[in-house]
Amino acid sequence: MSEPVFVAFATQKGGVGKSTLTALVASYLHYNEGVNVLAMDCDDRQHSLKDYRDQDNLVTEENPILKKALYSFYKNFKKKAYEIVLTNPKEAIRLISEKLNAGANPDVVFFDITGTINDPDIVMLLSVMDYIFVPVTIDTADMKSSIRFASHVVNKMITTNKTKIKALRLVWNKIPTRTKPNLCEIVDKYMSELGLESLESVLTNSCKFYKDGAVSGKTALFRSTVLPPDKQLLKGSNLPELVAEIRETIKV
Ligand SMILES: Nc1ncnc2c1ncn2[C@@H]1O[C@H](COP(=O)(O)OP(=O)(O)O)[C@@H](O)[C@H]1O
Ligand SMILES: [Mg+2]
Repeated sequence: MSEPVFVAFATQKGGVGKSTLTALVASYLHYNEGVNVLAMDCDDRQHSLKDYRDQDNLVTEENPILKKALYSFYKNFKKKAYEIVLTNPKEAIRLISEKLNAGANPDVVFFDITGTINDPDIVMLLSVMDYIFVPVTIDTADMKSSIRFASHVVNKMITTNKTKIKALRLVWNKIPTRTKPNLCEIVDKYMSELGLESLESVLTNSCKFYKDGAVSGKTALFRSTVLPPDKQLLKGSNLPELVAEIRETIKV
């Protein structure tokens, strides 16, 4: 039994896509690629992942189309939905250790972490991650915040060799185009001078990221914690490419 890889989607600022990316990547790995996943929702102020799961459970119960989709998916899928554990930065390490000691055997554990690098609990939690992904958008304030956070982790934590962290990558989210625009390339160049690297795949700004199945009519879901992304919505989303890059980085 090999040790699971700890992967965080983290930054101090809200709204950049940590919870969305955690849910998308965790679901794609678990439901599409057969990787065993466990997710730790460490954002005790928002608990978005847990909210997504509650909503997903509700809509797959109440919406007949999603209910059918759930039934036909799990008829062939031999596993259960991945567990989402509600926690906070202070308790997360103890909780995951307990889970692993009690026999949980995930290949990857995702941590959805919001908090500043001035918070000792956040620093402690980040220091036991194997890999950290920092979402960043082209909004100036988001960019500044994500770059500051990533730069601190890379230059003050990773380089000391006192943490488990092997690599940090930024992930461009809410981008107007499918391919990396010029602006991101320019920022990438600036970031590389700070020792920072971003992934090549970008996620576009699209309403499919926040459709939750509550509105009747269009019921196919892109982001669900209990189902794989809808095949039509997956087209042109860059999600498979992004997941491939993440797998290459985390070696899973
Ligand atoms: N690529 C995207 N396109 C459109 N909306 C997005 C995208 N990524 C995230 N969002 C939306 O932005 C909001 C913030 O995202 P979220 O993942 O909750 O950020 P965080 O966890 O960093 O606070 C949510 O309403 C989410 O649905
Ligand atoms: Mg969040």
